[in-house]
Amino acid sequence: MDEATSRPHIPVLREAVMGLLGCHAGGVYVDGTVGGGGYAEAILQASAPDGVLIALDCDAEAIARVQQRLPAYQNRLFLAQANFADLPHILEEFGQGPVDGIVVDLGVSTFQITDSARGFSFMLDGPLDMRMDRNLPQTASDLVNTLSERDLTSLIRDLGEERWARRIAGAIVLRRGIGPFTTTLELAKVIEKTVPKTKDSFRIDPATRTFQALRLAVNRELESLEQFLAQVLDLMKPGGRLCTVAFHSLEDRIIKHTFKEWSQSCTCPKNVPQCQCLGQPLVKLLTRRPSRPDPGEIERNPNARSARLRAVEKWERDTN
Ligand SMILES: C[S@@+](CC[C@H](N)C(=O)[O-])C[C@H]1O[C@@H](n2cnc3c(N)ncnc32)[C@H](O)[C@@H]1O
Repeated sequence: MDEATSRPHIPVLREAVMGLLGCHAGGVYVDGTVGGGGYAEAILQASAPDGVLIALDCDAEAIARVQQRLPAYQNRLFLAQANFADLPHILEEFGQGPVDGIVVDLGVSTFQITDSARGFSFMLDGPLDMRMDRNLPQTASDLVNTLSERDLTSLIRDLGEERWARRIAGAIVLRRGIGPFTTTLELAKVIEKTVPKTKDSFRIDPATRTFQALRLAVNRELESLEQFLAQVLDLMKPGGRLCTVAFHSLEDRIIKHTFKEWSQSCTCPKNVPQCQCLGQPLVKLLTRRPSRPDPGEIERNPNARSARLRAVEKWERDTN
């Protein structure tokens, strides 16, 4: 990593997350996206002296950084380079049963975005990579250089929610005639020339949405989130809490709908003629509306501006 250019990651909504997780001594917790270790440190402090934290990140550099940063907790901090979608296997490997609390803080860290060599930023020149986990088979340049115009249009429109997706995909394919894209700025320049200037252009860089779409696709971020949510309740004790922080509207939508479904009293599939779940919800919603950073936090940390924190508590089932 280019340490010289990377700034520290300021954890977003840390106090609110800690308030909702409700850590206690002796508890077992999971940080599915340890990043710079900001939440991890707070969880370890709040669960002292004997709480355990299993902390994952799909980026090997994040794991190495946290290992260096938190040596004081090595007897109760278990780190693994892994995708949180694989949490069931990781808990099994660490010999852990259901846990008291889980947090995931989605997206990229400041370390990743400010490191030009990782290729996440349209403002820093670097290889067009965008893999959080460097073992992943496909980089952003692989997608940009090989997808058909039609597939590029869908990707940019669906994952970037970009109204100029068709134009951008056309311009990319035209430019590929000269040679493949290899760097972030090559792509950013093509997008800038293609997207018409509007009032919005001054607020948001024209490359923002396309870069976001590519990052989500390269890292299969929505798929990982869906896979994680499909399994997570089985990994929690009754009364256990799950907190999620999302920065992207597509991710937040998935979480919102899943939490809503879990919190409704009848969770039987629609085609079942009679309720078989005894009408008990799976979770209690701890945040009816998402918690958002206040203006002071946004001023201190502009990256926090689109963060949405949601939380649920696994219902203690009445077995009588
Ligand atoms: C916003 S940062 C987390 C910052 C962290 N909460 C802190 O306090 O420093 C997001 C981190 O999640 C990681 N990540 C994103 N998706 C992941 C996934 N599916 N599995 C594991 N880690 C993931 C990224 O590599 C990145 O380091």
